[in-house]
Amino acid sequence: MSYERIAVTPLSPVIGAEVEGVDLAQPLGNQMFQEIHDALITHQVIFFRDQTMTLEQHKAFGRRFGELHIHPAAPAPEGHPEVVTIHADENSTEVSGGQQWHTDVSADVAPPMGSILHLHQVPEPGGDTLFASMYAAYEALSDEMKSLLSGLKAWHSSEKRHKARYGHRGELRDGVDTYPKALQPIVRTHPVTGKKALFVNTVFTTHIEGLKKNESDAILNMLYDHIATPEFSCRFRWRENSVAFWDNRCTQHRALWDYYPETRHGYRVAVCGDKPF
Ligand code: SIN
Repeated sequence: MSYERIAVTPLSPVIGAEVEGVDLAQPLGNQMFQEIHDALITHQVIFFRDQTMTLEQHKAFGRRFGELHIHPAAPAPEGHPEVVTIHADENSTEVSGGQQWHTDVSADVAPPMGSILHLHQVPEPGGDTLFASMYAAYEALSDEMKSLLSGLKAWHSSEKRHKARYGHRGELRDGVDTYPKALQPIVRTHPVTGKKALFVNTVFTTHIEGLKKNESDAILNMLYDHIATPEFSCRFRWRENSVAFWDNRCTQHRALWDYYPETRHGYRVAVCGDKPF
C-alpha cells in the first residue's frame, strides 16, 4: 500500500500501525479519508499522536466513516449520546473499557464496524491497550477446526457484561432494562477484505447454538486461549492526546488496568457496522 498524504509505520508484522501527517480535528478531504481508511483496513488498528479534538470534532471524524453507533447501556456525556466515557481513577472498582479480550458490542445484531478512542489523560507509565488480529487467530487454526467452526453460530449477550458494569439504569437505548442479544457466526467474513476472522469473545459470548453446555464451553475456552496468543497482537502505549481507531470486525482488544490509583480518561465513539456473515 502506498500513501501520498500520510506516513504509516507498522507496530508489528501482524497488526497495528502508527499514522502521521494528519490533524483529526480538521475535516478530511477525500484523499486523506481514503488513505486513513486504507491504513485501517490494512493494519486493523491505527494510532495517531498529539491530536487535540473536541467531542464535536471527534464525532465529525467518526462520521466520515459512517453513522455513529449508540451504545446500548453506557451513560453518555450530556448532549453527546454517541460518546462513551472511558475513565478510571482512585475510586474505580473496574475500568470502563474491557479488561478482558473483546470486540465492542458484539451483542448488537449489527455491531460497530470500528471504534475511535481518544485519551485526554493517561497514567505514566501504564494503561496500555492490547489489540489482537482475528484474521491471524483464524488463519492459525487447523483445517479440521476451521471446518468444524464454519457452520457454527454463538449467542452474544449485552446483559452478560453491561448489567453488572452499569447497574440498573432503567431506560436504555432499546427500552427499559432491555439489553440486546444476537446470534453471530463464529467465523465472520470481513465485508471489505473478504478475509475470515474469529468472532467470539469472553465478554459477550455466552454459548454456541445447538451444542451441550460442556461442548460449547470446551470450544469457546479453547478459542479464548488461542485468541490471546501473543504473536497475534500488538501493544499500544498511550500518551496524552493519542487516538486509537480499531476495525471492530477483525480485531479484539484488552485494556490493562495496572495503574491504580492513577487516572486514565478519554472518550470513544463507534461507527455503525453491518450484520456479520
Ligand atoms: C474499550 O474497550 O473500548 C476501551 C479500551 C481502552 O480503554 O484502552
